[in-house]
Amino acid sequence: MFKTLPGFREFYPEDVAKRDYIFKVWRDTARAFAFREFDPPVLEQLDLFTEKSGEEIKSQLFEFTDKGGRAVSMRPEMTPSLARMVGAKANSIRRPVKWFCMGENYRYERQQKGRLRAFYQFNADILGEESLRADAEIIGLLVGILKAFGLTQDEFKVRLGDRTLWVLFLENAGVKDELIMPVLSVVDKIERVSPEAFLEMLEEALAGSQIDAGVLADKIRAFIPLKDLDSFGAAFEGGMIPQDRIEGRLTQWRELFASLKDMGVADFVKPDLGIVRGLAYYTGFVFEAFQTVGTGRALAGGGRYDNLVKKLGYPDMPAVGFGMGDVTVSDLLELVGKGKSIDSSPDVCVVIADDSLRGEALKAIYALRGDGISVDYQFKTNNMGKQLKYADSIGARLAVIFAPDEFSAGCVSVKNLKDGSSLRVELNSLVCSVEKMLSVGK
Ligand code: HAM
Repeated sequence: MFKTLPGFREFYPEDVAKRDYIFKVWRDTARAFAFREFDPPVLEQLDLFTEKSGEEIKSQLFEFTDKGGRAVSMRPEMTPSLARMVGAKANSIRRPVKWFCMGENYRYERQQKGRLRAFYQFNADILGEESLRADAEIIGLLVGILKAFGLTQDEFKVRLGDRTLWVLFLENAGVKDELIMPVLSVVDKIERVSPEAFLEMLEEALAGSQIDAGVLADKIRAFIPLKDLDSFGAAFEGGMIPQDRIEGRLTQWRELFASLKDMGVADFVKPDLGIVRGLAYYTGFVFEAFQTVGTGRALAGGGRYDNLVKKLGYPDMPAVGFGMGDVTVSDLLELVGKGKSIDSSPDVCVVIADDSLRGEALKAIYALRGDGISVDYQFKTNNMGKQLKYADSIGARLAVIFAPDEFSAGCVSVKNLKDGSSLRVELNSLVCSVEKMLSVGK
């Protein structure tokens, strides 16, 4: 017997119907925000990710050498591909670029609840706009999507952190440029490891420097719980960073929240310095949406990454965006009873009461299908009762019945399976009649 590989799902039709609902909400909401869809390749040159995504992702790549000897990897995320695609057209593309995409990503992770090795991810990004208005638009879309799923403030929140403020904080603590990223990637793990493990990782990140890891760990632990802008400012008092740099950044926080308030989403967003994000390329505000019921896992994450396009060798292009996975979102929707499916039931089931009519019935079925109406019928039976039961079981709205008596008068009957009413129609106007009946109540 063959099994699916660990961390890979198979989607039966009812699972696809649920997944399609998630895709529909993602796509519809992104379009309401005037984002345009793009689609990057699934397989990429390996170093696009090893150099741009950062350490954690590097160890999770589904990488191999292809038959042409190229080092390649399945994509673990979409952002480096997006940066390349936009970067390649940077001189001619209309800015800001507002693009979204949806597709499967692959990460060789330890399989656990909410984390798989193949998962779908929605991404929305704005490139070419440096102002915080783009950050606000992106966060507005993130909240807009979760609200479109029917989720409320009791069920999720967005935690908003700030790498710029963290860089200032670490500079203030004497951490030199090249150590800032390694220290931040340790800070990113603080919620998931023991205090001892945290200290050990910090010591490793600071190896060779003059900084006392224990002292820095205490400072970090005191900084993270701060939840309001005044206390962010107070944390820098008496330090070596000029007050106007701190004030400048806090003004941006205020501006961002003012926009979020005008958009009606500020109540979903909480300042939270515990969010620094694991990926290497973020440069400014960073955020993650978490479910606040059940497992409390991350639903989405993103932030500003102003240097990535340039680092790929293209013109400078500021950027901000986020990714949202389907796994935790669908788990949450199930948990709170808000999961839905896209109805894929056929419009019509044709019932054939006698095999002598099968040829004429097939002609009618193909005429209906040619008109865009979905039609099913059974291959073997002529038993009307069984066929009507089948029509009901597949959720068809109408049954078109081919019976000898009516047919000899050039007619068929159309039964509305939802209200039980029946209508006799002429065979040569069947398509038109079915169209009309289907349009009622749509
Ligand atoms: P990320 O935080 O790695 O960010 O992933 C974003 C979301 O994808 C997570 O919050 C989670 O919902 C989902 N996800 C990630 N890994 C897995 C997994 N193994 N199994 C199930 N779901 C998963 C990024 O990928 C960035 N590229 C997002 C971004 C776009 N930043 C800027 N633009």
